[in-house]
Amino acid sequence: MSYQSIQQLLKTAPVGTTVTVKGWVRTKRESKNAVFIALNDGSTIHTIQVVAQPGQLPEETLKLITTGSCLAVTGQLVESQGAGQAVEVKIEDVTVYGTADPEKYPLQPKRHSLEFLREIAHLRPRTNTFSAVLRIRHALAFAIHKYFNDNGFYYLNTPIITASDAEGAGEMFRVTTLDAIKPPLNEEGKVDFSQDFFGRETNLTVSGQLEGELGAMALGKIYTFGPTFRAENSNTTRHLAEFWMIEPEMAFHELEDNMNLAEDFVKTVIRYAIQHCADDLAFLDNRLKEEEKTKKKEEQSEFGLLEKLQFVISNEFVRLTYTEAIDILVNSKPAKKGQFQYEVKWGVDLQSEHERYLVEKHFKKPVILTNYPREIKAFYMKQDPDGKTVRAMDVLFPGIGEIIGGSQREDDLDKLTARMHEVGIEPEALWWYLDTRRFGSAPHAGFGLGFERLVLFVTGMGNIRDVIPFPRAPKSAEF
Ligand code: 4AD
Ligand code: MG
Repeated sequence: MSYQSIQQLLKTAPVGTTVTVKGWVRTKRESKNAVFIALNDGSTIHTIQVVAQPGQLPEETLKLITTGSCLAVTGQLVESQGAGQAVEVKIEDVTVYGTADPEKYPLQPKRHSLEFLREIAHLRPRTNTFSAVLRIRHALAFAIHKYFNDNGFYYLNTPIITASDAEGAGEMFRVTTLDAIKPPLNEEGKVDFSQDFFGRETNLTVSGQLEGELGAMALGKIYTFGPTFRAENSNTTRHLAEFWMIEPEMAFHELEDNMNLAEDFVKTVIRYAIQHCADDLAFLDNRLKEEEKTKKKEEQSEFGLLEKLQFVISNEFVRLTYTEAIDILVNSKPAKKGQFQYEVKWGVDLQSEHERYLVEKHFKKPVILTNYPREIKAFYMKQDPDGKTVRAMDVLFPGIGEIIGGSQREDDLDKLTARMHEVGIEPEALWWYLDTRRFGSAPHAGFGLGFERLVLFVTGMGNIRDVIPFPRAPKSAEF
């Protein structure tokens, strides 16, 4: 039979047959009756126990089997006498693929701090916590593609290198060729972008939305799912310089349809993770509970991870306007007692402390806020008739704050170009975008879900750098 992963093997558990398991040693324990080795191959949170009789393995082989070494073991799969596992492998043959010097291997069988593991990001997927996070990340990515495919959306690949700033916020990483930045620079001593083979300044995309809109105005319903880049020097637990974003864009959808879609979408993908990642979620749930116990009683969360996920998928999200939210915030206890770090009044951009107050303290449910002041939102959002607000929507989650940002788009060419002038964006620079409004314009809407913020929420991890395999954040680009 062909080689099976530990996950497959534990599923079928063909007791009595000879099997081969391959993986990395988590622990080795020697007693006078036997040698017990726990192997894990990353396919599952579970290890498989392989057992040798005392004296069965040559002393020099036994010495090479240490935490982190890699083995192939062949032997009979039998029911386990010990607690903690149903089956185990009675070793008949062992090959040591690779050793791991215990003096140098940084992952020892104990709980390492997440800060320490961040320093060895190249090895941390070999830990239970990170392998669980990465498998859940995979399941969520799969669920996202499945959701859109099941609902008639087409996957559109939008450019990574682009000349536009979709959000108009100027938070871009410049892209150019080494040739273009070689001296001589132009007369002002600046990079001569005309020497670049793009012939102009380009940057890494901050969002695929504008191109996504082109797609929606041709294919009806599209979504993007790709890396996006923000050169904001934010050292927070919610920001990365490189993160993945999912951006559906739909023709003939207005704000209300956009909210309905966003709510159904996040609930469906979270439900998928609950159904398909039970073991990994149970592990992380347990991990969190242990962590909670180390906190002061009043700071301990009343809900476990699984309860929190269940709660989100089984409750309707609260919907209210920005103006209504400001009213609540202004009259809230923390505002009256001066406990917010940032002042809250109509017109200000909500800070995460405000968002989290609404979600965690006031409503105790996910919240969709709509109709923000136009001044604090991007140029492309559809203007409300009051001339003050736009048809924006942000979805706010407990423990996270903003997880989704979106809007109905301005589909009126004149209003859109007037707004671009106001905020200092040259309409000519986006002539191709404006063509969608010139030719067969239509109401349309869309949103962006920050993938890592979703993974943060579902895994219950506390820092966004711990839910992406190779975090790009200020001062973290070893490889
Ligand atoms: O609110 P944002 O900036 O919206 C857009 O980019 C729109 N073009 C989306 C659209 O309408 N198609 O970003 C969308 C989401 C945020 O809600 C947040 O979840 C995530 O992307 N996000 C980040 N995640 C990690 N690190 C960062 N620096 C992020 N910036 C935004
Ligand atoms: Mg936003």
